[in-house]
Amino acid sequence: MGSKPRSLSGIKPTGTPHLGNYLGMIKPAIQLQETHETFYFIADYHALTSVRDPEQLRENTYDLTAVFAALGMDFENHAFFRQSDIPEVTELTWILSCITSKGLMERAHAYKDAMAKDQEVSMGLFSYPVLMACDILIYDSNFVPVGQDQRQHLEITRDLAIRFNHLYGEAFVIPEAIIEKEVATIPGLDGRKMSKSYGNVIPLLAPEKQFRKAVMKITTDSKSVDEPKDPETCSVFALYKCFAGKKEQEDLAERYLAGGLGYGEAKQLCFETLNAELKGPREIYQQIRNDKTKLNGILESGRDKARVIAREVIDRVRDKVGL
Ligand code: TRP
Repeated sequence: MGSKPRSLSGIKPTGTPHLGNYLGMIKPAIQLQETHETFYFIADYHALTSVRDPEQLRENTYDLTAVFAALGMDFENHAFFRQSDIPEVTELTWILSCITSKGLMERAHAYKDAMAKDQEVSMGLFSYPVLMACDILIYDSNFVPVGQDQRQHLEITRDLAIRFNHLYGEAFVIPEAIIEKEVATIPGLDGRKMSKSYGNVIPLLAPEKQFRKAVMKITTDSKSVDEPKDPETCSVFALYKCFAGKKEQEDLAERYLAGGLGYGEAKQLCFETLNAELKGPREIYQQIRNDKTKLNGILESGRDKARVIAREVIDRVRDKVGL
């Protein structure tokens, strides 16, 4: 830790991570460890807006910890922790709520979507963006790697930080989003964006058999083996592209266009390419997933690192506002 810029991100423990989470957030976040001091946390306070099963919430948290460990997160030099282990973030949420206009929250996508679908909106869901802003601001974060869907939340965060600094004097670092444009939309099994809410996900570190089965289930059109196929509109190809090198991508695109390549074969090739990257992590994951002592140790050491910064920032803020 030290002079490198700080990159922070959170991931909600709402289910087993899938390939979309991996490509959109987990993989880029782990790569940033080389050049940034990274703070990554499990957004369990946020998960409470939807998860009502305590055992599931706890297990999902361990699951994510094991996934990050398996994918090469360096817990010695970076911080990986539970959001709820840092209560300062909820204190800051109250303080920032007091300068957040209700109108700003009413323009937030998650709230608008829930209203459009006539879903019940809790205060937690309504003020979700304030808590998220505080997650970022409480650690003086410089960069925030997130998926495309979080862009608006980052804008809200910046707005709130600027507003606070303007009202009370400089207290917050203004963060910048890092959005992986290339992999902004990972297609799911049915060709729509891969998302838990569509039930079209490919689980990330599931046992190999199950993983292969999921890849083989990707929806394609019904062209016969002989017919030429369009790689650009094919979900199998889109996924392959996220894992294969330039040359491999070109080769497969050529075979699509030439005809003679069936979707079964394309899927097998896709599976093999994905599996080459995920096989090693899957083995580590299986070894540590149930080692609670180890997983707790990881979360505790992350908590201790994160809390030092959170205390500094909350003290600064309390002083500014007159508490
Ligand atoms: N809202 C994010 C998501 O659903 C998770 C999250 C919570 C987050 N707090 C954060 C991401 C702070 C980045 C920074 O994916």
